[in-house]
Amino acid sequence: MFQIIRKQEMARGTIIRFDIEAPKIAKKIKPGQFVILRVNETGERIPLTVADKDEFSGIITVIFQVVGKTTALMRSLKEGDIIKDVTGPLGKPAEVHNVGTVIMVGGGTGVAILYHIAKAFKEAGNQVVSIIGARDKDMLILKNEMENISDELVVTTDDGSYGYRGFVTDPLKKYLGERYDIKLVYAIGPIIMMKNVCNLTKQFNTKTFVSLNPVMIDGTGMCGGCRVKVDNKTQFCCVDGPDFDGHLVDFDELEKRNSLYLKDEKNSLLFSIR
Ligand code: NAD
Ligand code: FES
Repeated sequence: MFQIIRKQEMARGTIIRFDIEAPKIAKKIKPGQFVILRVNETGERIPLTVADKDEFSGIITVIFQVVGKTTALMRSLKEGDIIKDVTGPLGKPAEVHNVGTVIMVGGGTGVAILYHIAKAFKEAGNQVVSIIGARDKDMLILKNEMENISDELVVTTDDGSYGYRGFVTDPLKKYLGERYDIKLVYAIGPIIMMKNVCNLTKQFNTKTFVSLNPVMIDGTGMCGGCRVKVDNKTQFCCVDGPDFDGHLVDFDELEKRNSLYLKDEKNSLLFSIR
């Protein structure tokens, strides 16, 4: 049993942050790894990459977007409520080294996953430039947290209501064109964003990692639900990832597979609120 110690609603209530008491996981989990939550006995399994952890208080932080029936049910939980299962750490940790200057690019809810990894790159002694973007000012998350662990922070909004108007790829292009010290780019966000970041960094020959979020079922490499194509080979995101060399990922296939379930997710959300 895992207790919700703190709950915060962000982005007009569409993105929720839970701080959950899970001391064993908090002790072991590394940036980039994920947990699978099951709210109750009959509940669906929800994979969530951990956004932060505090080993001393035994707390892990997860941040999720409300997209279907189960995430809507999770939003209805309150501080003090119990989550039946939290399994983890799962997946491989992000490879964090001191490489010099890194650019961390986060879009929408992806910033939640990026934060934990960006913090680790900063702690490893890197110069961290962060670019985070959202549709508008209200949808922007973790701006202050990203500011605290970055040497430079650029914020974009699609509508220009905060920071630069445009997509995260706009300032990224400028950085890659003007600076020669960028050793690595990490990009986490919607598939189209990660694909466009990779198309850009390929032109500059800059190593790029992405964190993928295909449909997951068991999270242990047994069901094959999370298969992705990387370097023309089938990989299971839950055990071989979730982070991969972005220049080798087949984003078009990932986009196709993920869009198969979008309609079902929306319908399940509609039925759950009727
Ligand atoms: P969103 O659509 O609000 O986009 C967030 C930001 O990504 C935008 O503000 C923009 O800067 C950038 N972006 C969007 N389209 C782009 C494009 N064509 N080119 C360059 N940059 C672009 O994002 P959202 O609503 O948070 O997420 C949308 C989907 O992505 C959801 O289905 C979500 O599940 C998925 N997602 C995946 C991950 C992951 O683990 N990789 C993380 C977050 C969200
Ligand atoms: Fe089943 Fe990865 S979720 S193999």
